[in-house]
Amino acid sequence: MADAAGWRERARRVLVGNDRGGYTVPSPGLYPFQWNWDSAVVALGWMTFDESRAWRELDRLFEGQWDSGLLPHIVFHVPADTYFPGPSEWGTSDRHQPPTSSISQPPLAATIVRMMSERALDAGLANRAVAQLLPKLLRWHRWWFRERDPEGTGLVVTFHPWESGLDNSPAWDAPLAAVPPTSRAYARRDTGFVDSARRPRQADYDRYVHLMDFFRQAGFDAGQIYAECPYRVADFGLNAILLRATEDLAELCRRHGESGAAEEMSAAADRSRRALAGLWSEKAGAYVSRDTRTGRSLEARTHSTFLAWYGRMAQSAEIDRRLLAGFNDWLARVPHGLPSTHPDAPGFEAQRYWRGPVWPHMNWLIAQGLAGAGHAAEAAALRHSTRSLIAHGGFREYFNPLTGEGYGGSDFSWTAAVALFWCAPEKIS
Ligand code: DGY
Repeated sequence: MADAAGWRERARRVLVGNDRGGYTVPSPGLYPFQWNWDSAVVALGWMTFDESRAWRELDRLFEGQWDSGLLPHIVFHVPADTYFPGPSEWGTSDRHQPPTSSISQPPLAATIVRMMSERALDAGLANRAVAQLLPKLLRWHRWWFRERDPEGTGLVVTFHPWESGLDNSPAWDAPLAAVPPTSRAYARRDTGFVDSARRPRQADYDRYVHLMDFFRQAGFDAGQIYAECPYRVADFGLNAILLRATEDLAELCRRHGESGAAEEMSAAADRSRRALAGLWSEKAGAYVSRDTRTGRSLEARTHSTFLAWYGRMAQSAEIDRRLLAGFNDWLARVPHGLPSTHPDAPGFEAQRYWRGPVWPHMNWLIAQGLAGAGHAAEAAALRHSTRSLIAHGGFREYFNPLTGEGYGGSDFSWTAAVALFWCAPEKIS
């Protein structure tokens, strides 16, 4: 993709090619359904050339919302046999149609809806779309606070590494080790599409499957799962994303005359901001996650720490300075940034999914935060690096930070979306 001329057109063609009727699959074959945080990013990509299709993406995502408010991480609109675990594995079809998974994913949607409404050329359409989405977003955020923070700590917990979006990050190694591996037979499909050296290990999958089965056996009962789940982690990254989204939701409520809901969300954001500050680790010089079953801090050095700026946390000038120095150090150590794990960390693997590779949408989120905090040069460095990875490697799922090679799914929707709204060259030359 060395020439800039066709860049945008090719990115649009990826989204159009992955459109399955109002929703976008992340990548044909490997991920044949609608994924939650993928669709949020992708909607912003559609916004650059088809506004009504962009809003439709979110409507279709919320078709998966449960009565409890849970917005699942996968919506199985139509059957496909190229993915494991599919709808029958999750066992949710008695509870919801279309069937879905029973877990969630980082809550980007409210922030994306705010961005979409601010970029909209068709203000009437945007107003109607936001008015319809607002109650659904509110139900989802209330679900996080009610079911995932029942003790009112200000931090929500994840019950499965897939909820963090950073599936096999070294940050989850210790809590996942406490989960028994499943003893039942199952057949992965992902390694039929992607080299197994670039996907999570079998030992990780054995535990992913155990957790999924545990949710079904618990009848998806929130209280029972909170009390008994062998994996329960307050993920710094997800909580930072939730903080930002809750503030954005409060702002959307204000603009739509929902002052009570706006105050409720602002108060929730304040609690979350205070609690997130407590995840700073002096030892790591970074924000870290916490295993809330053991109380242990999860000190693995992952790029999530740099979501602090995206979350708009109120941090001291001293912490800001240390975080920025850490960021520049990470970038300086590899030819292609930003690796998902620090290259000197024991869990770093340049090829393996969330253990080292660069993820374009994470670069965008981090750059958004950096720019908002006044760190324009660092934001520009991430944009430049992402652009050059995509230009040379194509619209791939993730990239090797040492070689720049593109890995994982091809024709990847959120990579194309990020190119469209963020890092494609400004001018077609
Ligand atoms: C996968 O199947 O790899 C997904 O990341 C889980 O949502």
